[in-house]
Amino acid sequence: MSEAQLPIIQAIGVSQEYKLPRTSLFGKHPVLDALKEVDFYAMEGESVGIVGESGAGKSTLTRILVGMEKPTSGIFKFKNQDVWSSDDEFQHEFRRSVQMVLQNPRSSFDPRMTIAQSLLQPLKGLKIGGNHQARINQVLEQVGLGQDALKKYPYEFSGGQLQRVAIARALIPNPKVLIADEPVSALDVSIQAQVLNLLNDLVKDLNLTLILITHDLSVVSYVTSRVAIMGHGKIVETGTPKFLFQNPQSEITRSLVDSVLTVGKGIEGESLF
Ligand SMILES: Nc1ncnc2c1ncn2[C@@H]1O[C@H](COP(=O)(O)OP(=O)(O)OP(=O)(O)O)[C@@H](O)[C@H]1O
Ligand SMILES: [Mg+2]
Repeated sequence: MSEAQLPIIQAIGVSQEYKLPRTSLFGKHPVLDALKEVDFYAMEGESVGIVGESGAGKSTLTRILVGMEKPTSGIFKFKNQDVWSSDDEFQHEFRRSVQMVLQNPRSSFDPRMTIAQSLLQPLKGLKIGGNHQARINQVLEQVGLGQDALKKYPYEFSGGQLQRVAIARALIPNPKVLIADEPVSALDVSIQAQVLNLLNDLVKDLNLTLILITHDLSVVSYVTSRVAIMGHGKIVETGTPKFLFQNPQSEITRSLVDSVLTVGKGIEGESLF
């Protein structure tokens, strides 16, 4: 396989165990298997979904994919290099290249900082040179916001606008991979599609790899072309959203499809039904 055909990001046989508090004074720590030998990858420029019910292990996998947690076992690769045994220079490139957008933009910004200060932070933290002001202006434009946003504080924005600012902050270091953990589930249904459209446009314009994590199959069918279904710490099934909707193989996928049907058409206009 040539380099171009290798995944840009890949988990191979990744398991994550969490030690739980002891139930007796001299007993062992019980262990929770949050991930069990998970294989997952995304190619450059690809949009992949991870879907599963609450507690399936989605956020645990996300934390591994952004390098916040080291897996108990298995290998985590970026650009075909083992991240956890790479040198400082590569780890710096990895941290700059893989950025995350979280569910709730209100809790992911410091309320005492202006947007300008918040957007400057990743540039300073990652010691990125160049014209910071120009970079911030460019990214604000990419997410559809004007420079008047810079002097404002987080409370002055609606949820949807603040999620745009969160996406801008993730884009500031010029990442290759954007990982979005439930990016629209805290937002009004009426603005969910706008934020998903923005992600779609950014993926195309910037040739980003997008990993979109959600509990809602209709959200991934709007944005991604391949979906991994998670349940109980494992990936139980993968396929195109359409295939998974029409031919769910596992019980877990069937129940996710049913829950979309119960909330009606999913995102208006883009439902597969
Ligand atoms: N730091 C931790 N310590 C102990 N257990 C944890 C920790 N983080 C997650 N877990 C457990 O691991 C399992 C998977 O959790 P995770 O947050 O990855 O699920 P999720 O699919 O993201 O769920 P949700 O849809 O509710 O966000 C759960 O049983 C959770 O309680
Ligand atoms: Mg989660």
